[in-house]
Amino acid sequence: MKLKWSHAVLNVKDEKKILDFYTGIMGFTVSDRGPLGENAPEIIFMSQDPDEHHQLAIALLRKDEGPSNSLNHLAFRVESFDDIKTLKNSLEAASVDILPLSHGNTLSLYFNDPEGNGLEVFWDTPWHVAQPAGIVWDTSLDEQQALAWVEETFGDEPTFRKRDDAGGEFVNRH
Ligand SMILES: [Fe+2]
Repeated sequence: MKLKWSHAVLNVKDEKKILDFYTGIMGFTVSDRGPLGENAPEIIFMSQDPDEHHQLAIALLRKDEGPSNSLNHLAFRVESFDDIKTLKNSLEAASVDILPLSHGNTLSLYFNDPEGNGLEVFWDTPWHVAQPAGIVWDTSLDEQQALAWVEETFGDEPTFRKRDDAGGEFVNRH
């Protein structure tokens, strides 16, 4: 058996705020929605992958106040450094606090959705570094500068190497 990751479901409270965030800033499309039963709250399905009916769903089931549950974070990979920059600008425009952290193998942005669920969006660097590792990076750098910074910052780690040379399984996970 090999399990392939498909989706996560969050219990949420404020449909409008949450939907605005995930469709507006994060770029998801609503793929389906409907009540969970007769007179029951709705579940709203979202995806960015045509092969995946939902990557994320929100169930309007949450009643408690305050920061959410025991979820640490959900993480999403983007294809380019520019995607990270674009997202950073959108988050800043929406006054969302960002923690920019590089794991050596990524340049990541950490932030919370409007109900305190942790999120990470990351771009892969060309390197492998043993985890956990994390250092705040300067999001004003351009791609070349950011990569030079990663190499300089993590280059002395004994496990630092080109991803292609890393070999084996699970080498670029974090
Ligand atoms: Fe992560």
